[in-house]
Amino acid sequence: MTNPVFCAIDRPDLAGALDLGRSLVGHVGGLKLGLEFMSANGPQGVRAIGEVGLPLFLDTKFHDIPNTVGAAVRAISTLEPALLTLHIAGGRAMVEAARNAVQGLAKRPRLLGITVLTSLDQSDLEATGISHSMSDQVLQMAELGIGAGLDGLVCAAHEVQMLRQHFGRGILLVVPGIRPNGAAVGDQKRTIGPTEAIARGADILVIGRPITQSTIPSEAAHAIAKELRQAA
Ligand code: C5P
Repeated sequence: MTNPVFCAIDRPDLAGALDLGRSLVGHVGGLKLGLEFMSANGPQGVRAIGEVGLPLFLDTKFHDIPNTVGAAVRAISTLEPALLTLHIAGGRAMVEAARNAVQGLAKRPRLLGITVLTSLDQSDLEATGISHSMSDQVLQMAELGIGAGLDGLVCAAHEVQMLRQHFGRGILLVVPGIRPNGAAVGDQKRTIGPTEAIARGADILVIGRPITQSTIPSEAAHAIAKELRQAA
């Protein structure tokens, strides 16, 4: 099996990110760069990390009018990311514009939708006028996004099973909030181990601090990969 772990490099400094990325070659399946890194370092910084040679997951979280998102997806696709994210809340036409922007590209990024940010709870939903339950809202957004042509979804650990059963094997499910046994939970509220996440139906695991904050990140990543291989 190929390594399903994308390490989240949540730091703004390019030199540190490069060192970390290089040290993880052979131990993770890819690197995830978020808004913090991209805002600090721009496309040049992304290209520099790309030279490490691992697939890139750009957590762009696009959300704007369809024309703007389509153009942004086209522009960022020149960096040849493996994965990109957008907010399904932008609506069907926005998701379709993103999909159309990557259609026909030789190296097309897979497009992943964000359903509801896990930082929001039921009362936050109510404050925006949404009265049904969180899980209903996640499913409704997921159906909208997949129906409009997304390749997959980013979802919380407790949603993977439900989404896998609902959509079958045809979509990619990407799961953050993973904590290998013994790792500090940090600000993640609900976490599961890597093996369990895969067993529940995850395709890709986003793991940040358990790797990046460990004394020797490559060893932490290696141990996770070993655990996953043994469970496969
Ligand atoms: O350090 P940690 O493993 O918690 O990092 C998780 C990564 O996944 C971070 O980059 C974070 O922004 C991202 N993420 C998350 N929870 C979500 C969606 C994305 O933690 N629901």
